[in-house]
Amino acid sequence: MCGIVGYVGKQKASAIILEGLKRLEYRGYDSAGVCVLQGGKLDVAKKAGRVENLVKEVTKHHLTGTTGIGHTRWATHGGVTDANAHPHVSSDGKFALIHNGVIENYSQIKGFLLSKGYTFQSETDTEVLCNLIAYHYAKEPVEGSRSPHGNGQGNGGAIATSRFLESVRKTLRHVEGTYGIAVLCVDYPAELVAARKASPLLLGVGDGEYIIASDASALISRTQNVVYLKDGELVHLTKTGFTITTLDQEDVSPVVDKITWSIKDAEIGTYAHFMEKEIFEQPLALENSMRGRFSEDGSTANFGGLNLTASELRQIDRFMFCACGTAWHACLVTEHLIERFARLPVEVDYASEFRYRNSPLDRNTLFFVMSQSGETIDTLAALREAQRKGYRVLAINNVVGSTIAREANGGIYQHVGPEIGVASTKAFTSQLLLGAMLALYIARLRDMSFSDGVIYVKALKGAPDLVRDALKQAPHIQAIAKRFAHHTDFLFLGRLSLFPLALEGALKLKEISYIHAEGYPAAEMKHGPIALISEKCPSVFFAPKGEIFNKVVSSMQEIKARKGPVIAIITEGCELPPGLADEVITIPDCHEAVLPIVAAVPVQLLSYYIAVERGCDVDKPRNLAKSVTVE
Ligand code: M6R
Repeated sequence: MCGIVGYVGKQKASAIILEGLKRLEYRGYDSAGVCVLQGGKLDVAKKAGRVENLVKEVTKHHLTGTTGIGHTRWATHGGVTDANAHPHVSSDGKFALIHNGVIENYSQIKGFLLSKGYTFQSETDTEVLCNLIAYHYAKEPVEGSRSPHGNGQGNGGAIATSRFLESVRKTLRHVEGTYGIAVLCVDYPAELVAARKASPLLLGVGDGEYIIASDASALISRTQNVVYLKDGELVHLTKTGFTITTLDQEDVSPVVDKITWSIKDAEIGTYAHFMEKEIFEQPLALENSMRGRFSEDGSTANFGGLNLTASELRQIDRFMFCACGTAWHACLVTEHLIERFARLPVEVDYASEFRYRNSPLDRNTLFFVMSQSGETIDTLAALREAQRKGYRVLAINNVVGSTIAREANGGIYQHVGPEIGVASTKAFTSQLLLGAMLALYIARLRDMSFSDGVIYVKALKGAPDLVRDALKQAPHIQAIAKRFAHHTDFLFLGRLSLFPLALEGALKLKEISYIHAEGYPAAEMKHGPIALISEKCPSVFFAPKGEIFNKVVSSMQEIKARKGPVIAIITEGCELPPGLADEVITIPDCHEAVLPIVAAVPVQLLSYYIAVERGCDVDKPRNLAKSVTVE
């Protein structure tokens, strides 16, 4: 939610910032803006709408300065207007600020500032923050100084503590809520102060330049060396160095990490959309997720990052999983597999519910969170709540260095590279794979035999090829999409481990095609949703080979008897009664642990092609953002 980027260096800041904003646009695309410090002034260009609108706007300004900030907005406080777009400038004209997050006590602060004569141009909480910095700056008496140390980078660089930095620090001490901010001050023409609390922020350490950004995609074209900022930290950038300090004015020694992926991974290549690219990348993504994670004897999985010994894991008698959205669906599949193969009870909760529910947890519960971005605020809050209660929390997460990855007590990285399409696809199937591997690992610590373990491992290793096979159905699914794209209601129905896939299919269709869709357990459909059935409401059924195949076929008959169109996703070797399904998609027959991964492919493709057919903006669906960092 909202992307921020800031630059201090020798190059034209606006060009680097605009490139960063294009890459951060998936985080919000209601408006975009940039501010460059030049000629002792703050030059702001901002516009409602996409970054491409801003690019046109910027051409009207002559932005040559080498220090600047930029923002792409997902609206929280105030409508989608030019005035509410960031950066905001303080009423004395001295400060410009960009913000990702929510200032909860903004109305009290605004009342206070109004009484002191400050004025406001927007309805945002952010402008309040900007003016509060101006207020503290005006009150800050003298320029303090601190001895320079270090070598010009990272708490060195002869940076004196300044009125600028201290006024930001003071302001943040009065703020309740969440923020990733970057601030410019006219009195400090080659400096930038940034800070974070709960919203992600990292610093790129380049060759004679520094870039701060909400995520690595905005800076990867300039440097792979990054410092992940922690909550409550402020970074002060100049052209020659940076310092990191805390809200309590403590020095922080920076740890410079290396990003392992490259700009190529974040590029769309020959695909029409990132979602399409990421769907077709899944075989490779699965290979990367499983690489090096099977035991030498080929009977179990290995997860070094769990930081738990086998005997500690043996003490666990219950699992709790928390997540949001698609990751929550992956948790439901994981629940099914752990219960089925490891015979241990699992509870899955929405992170947003768990954090306020005060649910009683058993002493020997192992707590997991799942999150592609590692920044979802509700999932982070659930993690913190569980840790507060004394639980060790493990994370299944894709983004290395994300807040959840850093705060968890251990976990499993997904290693699928950047996922840019707002609709999660490759991260989802990787979560399904890792959930299946976790179920195997736990099962092998308990009652699963060596030979069953070997069969299970072999099946999981085959998942990338099975997904490759399923992807071959793309032209057929595209044709089905053309036929059904005009419908306005869909049901997705599945049972057991494919019930969460029904939820996922419905979510995918809703979020990128704006079609109303519901996911239901197939047999539950007759307890209510069947009332929706008519020739106008197609049902997408998962009907894999196995003990429940005939039961699912009966549910299809009930739909057909009411003239509902049926799209059946069956596994190879299944036969449906003639005329029962209007369309059939056949996926490879496979092991139970792999089936949800393979079954994800047709519903991803169906929603993708329907969205394309309807002319929807697949990668930037309305009202959504990739990373949900507000409650
Ligand atoms: O980054 P996370 O996995 O924590 O994100 C959770 C959800 O916001 C996310 O899965 C969302 O539902 C996607 N847009 C689904 O495609």
